[in-house]
Amino acid sequence: MAKTVPPTTTDAGIRVQSDEHSLTISPDGPIVLNDHYLIEQMANFNRERIPERQPHAKGSGAFGTWKTTADVSKYTKAKIFQPGAECEVAMRFSTVAGERGSPDTWRDPRGFSVKFYTEDGNFDMVGNNTPIFFIRDPLKFQHFIRSQKRRADNGLRDHDMMWDFWTLSPESAHQVTYLMGDRGVPKNWREMNGYSSHTYMLINEDGEKFWVKFHFHTNVGDESGNAHLTQDEAVKKAGEDSDYHRRDLFDAIAEGNFPSWTLKWQIMPFEDAKTYRINPFDLTKTWPHADYPLIEVGTLTLNENPVDWDTQIEQLAFEPNNMVPGIGLSPDKMLLARGFSYSDAHRARLGVNYKQIPVNAPKNADVHSYSRAGHMRTQNAVDPVYAPNSYGGPAAQPQVGGEATWHADGDMVRQAYTLREDDDDWSQPRALVNDVMDDAQRDRFVSNVAGHLADGVSEKVLVRAFEYWKNVDEKIGQRIEDKVREMIGGKSTAPGMASAESIKQRQGAE
Ligand code: HEM
Repeated sequence: MAKTVPPTTTDAGIRVQSDEHSLTISPDGPIVLNDHYLIEQMANFNRERIPERQPHAKGSGAFGTWKTTADVSKYTKAKIFQPGAECEVAMRFSTVAGERGSPDTWRDPRGFSVKFYTEDGNFDMVGNNTPIFFIRDPLKFQHFIRSQKRRADNGLRDHDMMWDFWTLSPESAHQVTYLMGDRGVPKNWREMNGYSSHTYMLINEDGEKFWVKFHFHTNVGDESGNAHLTQDEAVKKAGEDSDYHRRDLFDAIAEGNFPSWTLKWQIMPFEDAKTYRINPFDLTKTWPHADYPLIEVGTLTLNENPVDWDTQIEQLAFEPNNMVPGIGLSPDKMLLARGFSYSDAHRARLGVNYKQIPVNAPKNADVHSYSRAGHMRTQNAVDPVYAPNSYGGPAAQPQVGGEATWHADGDMVRQAYTLREDDDDWSQPRALVNDVMDDAQRDRFVSNVAGHLADGVSEKVLVRAFEYWKNVDEKIGQRIEDKVREMIGGKSTAPGMASAESIKQRQGAE
């Protein structure tokens, strides 16, 4: 039996006359301006693309559920982390530097973002597949991302500019070690771990505070989260199927093969942070598990694909400032800057009322805010539109135990943290290469670094790169240097970048 289909309508719900023919004066004559449906279709089409995210433009996501399986109530009063608590989640995975259409298998950290639709409002955990990051001061973030994207003159990505930035930023060594290892090209998103990377705060019912790092360990395959593609496999996949990871996630969920992760926490007592040998808020450092072991919290499962990728994934907006009572930010300067940056990005990309887009609106909490009007507002404002008022408008209810705050005082300075006993830039990447990687992983790491450096890096940056890796480990650095020299057949002839001065002279001469 033929399936009945609904009639095509305009966006105003009016039935249209044809799906195929515009209104013209005679079959051979001109189109008329009053063919509103044709004009609506053309106008809508011209406005279909919204701007892509500045970093993390390429990605995809899905929906699912969170369940707290352990009793961690002594650390937090957050309703979503009480024993047995459940809620819906939205997740998005991404690469960092590539554009919206770039291959999924380019070497890059992977974004791991989770929106928990809790009864306390939306809680967003916007992390990566690595437990640390390239830099520790937010003033460097914009420069770092630009160095990973494209040059001004030829619009090309450029290894010289990447290594120029990294080698002038020794704090990047730990994350670059992860990036050049197996985590740099995950096999797929399902077999990948996710990390808060930053330290956050937890507050319990009695107002007691703790520091915490989130670790989402994959329950698919090897829980180390190191399932990977080799560099050769990644390059091949980039040509064969640039949406390889997006397809893998969608197909797995469509087949009922639901990926899941176990959330574990590292908890640090509040007072420890003052004297711990590593600054616990420095995003380039991990906390050794021997000092702060992992404890199990619950399970995250993805079981539902988007039906409209544009409205549900492209318009999905995560923001690290979405913290619910019982969870808060920390003195990590990068995290505090992210607390501003994301909502600003959403206002620019999606408009000031982006939180009314269904995928961003709370599902399990009511909104009683004093925000009103502005572009594309759909929710009615109600009087009184100001506070305080004596007409029954919403009134703030200070949290029991207070907000996530800490004591701070001192002179204003420009310095990312006071150095502590074990706060150097090299020992954690050294331990990662020598103690965590096995021989095969280390060989792949050396080959990935050498391949990257042999591809378009100028001699002056190369020399600095060899020194950078020798600071991590003398032997590894020498292996990298020997391999690169062999690959390029002596000295690098890559031109690097014309100096700002010579460009000025050239422009002046024109
Ligand atoms: C995306 C800024 C550090 C993970 C973004 C976006 C901005 C941004 C503006 C685009 C947001 C959008 O248009 O939707 C910053 C700044 C940082 C920083 C200023 C440091 C000061 C980090 C760190 C991580 C991270 C350390 C991981 C631990 C992500 C992820 C996304 C993202 C996963 C994509 C979110 C999504 O899936 O929509 N970042 N970022 N960022 N960032 Fe950051």
